[in-house]
Amino acid sequence: MNTRHTLSALAVAVFAMATSLPAQEAGFHSAPASAAATANPHTTPDDVKAGQGVYQQRCAMCHGATAQGAGNIPALASGPAQSAKPGEIMWYITQGDLSNGMPSWASLPEEQRWQVVSYIKSLGSGGAAAPTAAPAASSTNTGAGGRGVQSSELTAKPFDAPAPTPPFTDFRYEKPGQTRKVTVADLPKPYATESAGNGPKIIPRPEGAWPKVPEGFKVNIYAEGFDTPRMIRTAPNGDAFFVENVTGEIHILRGLTADGKAQTHSVFAKGLNRPFGIAFYPQGPNPQWVYIGNLDSVVRFPYKNGDLVATGASEHIADIPGGKGHITRDVRFSLDGKKMFVSVGSGSNVDDPDTSPAEKNRADVLEFNPDGSGMRVYAYGIRNCVGEAIHPKTGELWCSVNERDALGDNLVPDYITHVQEGGFYGWPWWYMGDHQDPRHAGKHPELKDKAIVPDVLLNPHNASLGILFYEGKQFPAEYQGELFAAEHGSWNRSARVGYELIRVPMLPTGRAKGEYQDFMTGFVLPSGDVWGRPVAVATATDGSLLVTDDAGKLVWRISYTGK
Ligand code: HEC
Repeated sequence: MNTRHTLSALAVAVFAMATSLPAQEAGFHSAPASAAATANPHTTPDDVKAGQGVYQQRCAMCHGATAQGAGNIPALASGPAQSAKPGEIMWYITQGDLSNGMPSWASLPEEQRWQVVSYIKSLGSGGAAAPTAAPAASSTNTGAGGRGVQSSELTAKPFDAPAPTPPFTDFRYEKPGQTRKVTVADLPKPYATESAGNGPKIIPRPEGAWPKVPEGFKVNIYAEGFDTPRMIRTAPNGDAFFVENVTGEIHILRGLTADGKAQTHSVFAKGLNRPFGIAFYPQGPNPQWVYIGNLDSVVRFPYKNGDLVATGASEHIADIPGGKGHITRDVRFSLDGKKMFVSVGSGSNVDDPDTSPAEKNRADVLEFNPDGSGMRVYAYGIRNCVGEAIHPKTGELWCSVNERDALGDNLVPDYITHVQEGGFYGWPWWYMGDHQDPRHAGKHPELKDKAIVPDVLLNPHNASLGILFYEGKQFPAEYQGELFAAEHGSWNRSARVGYELIRVPMLPTGRAKGEYQDFMTGFVLPSGDVWGRPVAVATATDGSLLVTDDAGKLVWRISYTGK
C-alpha cells in the first residue's frame, strides 16, 4: 500500500523534528567521575538484607514496595538506577534532588546508604529474587466475594492528623455528593508545610470494603483479574477497550450479563510499549482504525466494528518524546476529524526546559494530522495532561493535569480545564496564573501574565487521570454533559487525598462551573491503607460508567438504579 510509504516518510520527518536532542548527559544525574570510581564496601548477602530493611522504611513510600516507581518517581528495580555505578547511586542519594522531590539521605549512616545501594542492585535482572510486596499482600484469599484479609487491617489504628483546612481535604472527609471548590485565593505560600513522601500501601480489598457512591447508584465489578488496567474507552459498537499498561497489551471487554458483568474478554493486540491513549478513527459509527498512544510513539491498528483481535499489524504514525518521567500519552481527535491531540507529560518534576533538552516537546499537548504529519505544539506548560477529552458540543479539547510536587501539602492544585490553542499553563516557571515557582525565581517575567488559570482547581496531589463527558442515557438528566474524572490519589501529601471518581458540574455554555463533587470514594481505609485507585472512565452502551482500577486490577461498573 503506497500510502503507507508516504506516511512513514512523513513520520520520519516528524521524528527528526521531535527528537533532535543532544546526546544523553554523561554520568548518572551528573555524578562526578570520582563517585563512579568508588567501590561499594558493603555487598554481602547480609548487607543486601539490611538494605532491604532501609529501603522498606525510607524509600518504599515513594518508589513503591517493589521499587517499581510511580508517576514521575522513577523505578529503581529497572531503568537508569540499574545501569548506574553503585558509587554514582551512593553519591546521588547522599545529595538528593530536593527541587525534584528526592530527599537527601546524608543523615543516614554511610553503611546504611551503601546497603540500600546493594539492595537496589540486587533487584536488577541477574540479581536476587524480586522483593516481596507489601506485607498485607500475603493475606489469605477466602474466595468468592471477599479477598480475605487479616482483620488487623480493618481494626488497625486510624490515621491520625489534624483536620484539613477547607477547601483542602483528605481521604477522611471525602464523601459522595460533597461539593468542593478550590480557588487561587486559597493557595498557601510554597513550603508552608514539608514535602511529604507518603505513597500508598496497597492491600487487597478487605472483606466488606466497597466503593461508596451517591444514593440511587450501585457499584459492581464488571471484570477482574488483570495486571495494570489503565485507559479505557468504548468503541462505537459498545466494546470496552482498555490498555494493560505494563504488559503492553490492548484488551476488550464485551457485553453485560444479568449480574452486570462482562460476557467476554479478549486480547486485541500485544507487544506495545507502555500503551495508554486509545482513540477510534474516523469518529462516528464506522471507525477504520484504533490509535494507541505508546510511551514514545503513536501507532494505529486496522479496526472495524466487532473485531476482537487486530486483523493486521500496527502502523507507525508518529514518534513522540519518550524517556524518563511521566509515561502516559493520551490521544484524541478533533470533532471534525482533522487534528489529533497527543498529550506528553514532563520528564521531571520542575526541570527548566531552557536548560534541560530532555524536556523538549514535553509538558505539552502536541497536535498532528491524523496521518502523523504536521506536528506542532498546541498548548504548553501543561505539566502532565494524563487524560484528554473533546467536549461533544463545543469541540474544545480538555485536559486533566497533574501539577508539580515538593512545594508542600496544599500546592500546587491539580486541575481540569479546557485547553486554549497556543495557551501557556505555567510549568515550570509559573503556576495557577501569576504565581512564580520558587525554584525558578526571577525567570521568564514576560510569561507571568500569559500563564492561564485553569477552569477547575482540584485538591493538590489528587493525581487527576482519565476524564469523560457523560453522554449516556442511564444517569438522571442533571448528569447529561457533565464531566467525570478518575483521581488516582496522592503520594506527596501528608494525609492522602484523591483515590476517588469525581463529578465536575458544567454550565450550558460547555464550560465548567469551577467546582467539583466527590462521586465514588472509599478506597482508603481509616488506617490509610489503600485497596483501589481509579485510573480512567468510559461510558458503556447501557449508560453505566466503567472505571479502571490499577490497584484492584479490575474494572468497576457504576449503574443508576434509582433505589
Ligand atoms: C519523598 C519521596 C522519595 C523518597 C522517600 C525517596 N525518593 Fe528517591 N526519588 C524521588 C523522586 C521524586 C525522584 C526523581 C527525581 C528527579 O526527577 O530527578 C527520585 C530519584 C531517585 C533515584 C534516581 C533514579 C533514576 O532513575 O534517575 C534514586 C537512585 C533514588 N531516588 C533512590 C532512593 C532511595 C535509595 C531512597 C531511600 C533511601 C529514596 N530514593 C527515597 C522521591 C523519593
